[in-house]
Amino acid sequence: SRTAVVIPAAGRGVRLGPGAPKALRALNGTPMLIHAVRAMAESRAVSLVVVVAPPDGAPEVKTLLDDHALPERTDFLVVPGGDSRQESVRAGLDALPDGIDIVLVHDAARPLVPVDTVDGVIEAVRDGAGAVVPALPLADTVKQVEPREAGLPEPVVATPERARLRAVQTPQGFDRALLVRAHESVTENVTDDASMVEQLGEPVVVVPGHEEAFKVTRPLDLVLAEAVLARRRA
Ligand code: CTP
Ligand code: MG
Repeated sequence: SRTAVVIPAAGRGVRLGPGAPKALRALNGTPMLIHAVRAMAESRAVSLVVVVAPPDGAPEVKTLLDDHALPERTDFLVVPGGDSRQESVRAGLDALPDGIDIVLVHDAARPLVPVDTVDGVIEAVRDGAGAVVPALPLADTVKQVEPREAGLPEPVVATPERARLRAVQTPQGFDRALLVRAHESVTENVTDDASMVEQLGEPVVVVPGHEEAFKVTRPLDLVLAEAVLARRRA
């Protein structure tokens, strides 16, 4: 079986604050996207990486990939993304060639995921799971609320049992045909790919995630990411 990774990297990064698109911001001098591509290409099982660039940024991203050393065994494609993460992933899926039967979807915003986590997801799909997500137990208790305008106290509706909750990361791994079917039939907005498979009524399983697979979302996450890189170099 051949495995490809789709890397949605087309987001603006509004929560990170003003500046270049998030995936192109530097971590220790190297764009976040390059760290993410390297993290995927480090897995010997990955033969193709499809990068979904900001809508008008595909040429710039192509140049960036050409300028950074990447393993010879891995092929690369760059396609322009869309207005939502879902549309961007869809653009990546549309670009996949024949012969790929396992697809991983990995956020460019999770640049530091260890290769063992990537391989664990691929292995679970190879072992027969149609959809696999890496995830971790939560540190915080989570409450469901009745949303109110910003600044107003929000009534609590429920407190789900923390021990049964998981915080979900990427790469998420799929049987290619199943993920394509999910993207063709689910139209409402979702925050991850596995939830589209769930909406088809198909099973999704969880494998262990990793602390270093955290998503760079807010400014403090950049501080953490650079600290992780510094620790790796020490
Ligand atoms: N993404 C994408 N296309 C979009 C929106 C998001 O490819 N239209 C990608 C981002 O580039 C990122 C991943 O989806 O790698 C996860 O999204 P998120 O962390 O929310 O990134 P942004 O949408 O860029 O950030 P924000 O929501 O703060 O604007
Ligand atoms: Mg977003």
